[in-house]
Amino acid sequence: MSLYAIITSPWRGGELIKEIKASELDSKKFIAEKVEEIKKTVGKGLAINALSGGVDSSTVTMLGHEALGDRLRTVFVDHGLMREGEPQRVVNVFKRLGVKVELVDSKQQFFNALKGIEDPEQKREAITRTFYRDVFGKIVRDTGAKYLMHGTILTDVDETVAGIKRQHNILTQIGIDTEKEFGYQVLEPLIQLRKDGVRKVSKALGLPEEIYNRMPFLGPALAGRVIGEVTPERIAVVRAATVIVEEELAKSGAFQYMAILHKDKVTGMRNGKRDFGQQIEIRCWDSLDARTATPSNLPFSALQRIADRTTREVPGVVSVTYNVTPKPPSTMEAV
Ligand code: XMP
Repeated sequence: MSLYAIITSPWRGGELIKEIKASELDSKKFIAEKVEEIKKTVGKGLAINALSGGVDSSTVTMLGHEALGDRLRTVFVDHGLMREGEPQRVVNVFKRLGVKVELVDSKQQFFNALKGIEDPEQKREAITRTFYRDVFGKIVRDTGAKYLMHGTILTDVDETVAGIKRQHNILTQIGIDTEKEFGYQVLEPLIQLRKDGVRKVSKALGLPEEIYNRMPFLGPALAGRVIGEVTPERIAVVRAATVIVEEELAKSGAFQYMAILHKDKVTGMRNGKRDFGQQIEIRCWDSLDARTATPSNLPFSALQRIADRTTREVPGVVSVTYNVTPKPPSTMEAV
């Protein structure tokens, strides 16, 4: 078996996936082997790939297109949990790269699935089910595709299998038989890599810097940044706060930064009157591969600017805090 074998079968009783460290990675060789394997596995059939616009799924999209050309259909699921302007931005980037992206509007399905759920793991499970069983299950039934390619990386597997956090894209490794339950096999060509390795492959594939150096973003999207129930209204609050944090910290050089909406309200005041309002927590991380992370030592003035803008520009927010706890014991996302 090739060193870079695609892992398509289940977790196989705990057999370890062989990690390829970024420092040992020969990107050209990796790409050539993966393209061959994808061709061999899919044969003359059709495959679907799930694009979110992050570096992992973008890299899979380009690998898949190199291997399959028109026999790969690239789908962007608009679950309504995205950052401001994200769906159109992703479609446009890939249009420039000559890749057609199909936008699937699944907003209602996701908000229905998330209704009333507060527990973080149940939330993550609802998102996985909606993505893989409902949305992609229907697409493969409608198209006759037998394979779904997605950008799972080793860090996603580690945390899920260790029981820390169920990453939205982990299926076979926790015993889900995707063929039986959803009607397709999953292909995970990046599963031996971590984020720094994916960035190398992405660059070697000719993706633009705005993709290969893109800040990581989680599959459950803004639902992972809402503590408590996810509703369109609460997503709108965290989305507006995210715009501010991303603008203000764009030049920070940090690995990842985010806004989180808390569940509890706190007493604030505005114009001399009581204002019982929402709390936003800011997190900004220095990290190499997301396995461990430390809070960035941001200038206090940068934090003050974020607090000032957030309380002025996001209706209902009266408190902004900054998390100074490393991972571990924190994790990077709150949910
Ligand atoms: P945590 O919160 O586990 O995050 O410390 C580590 C890194 O993984 C990202 N993350 C996810 N990515 N699906 C993903 O594709 C997920 O379900 C998921 N949860 C967390 C997170 O943004 C960080 O970069």
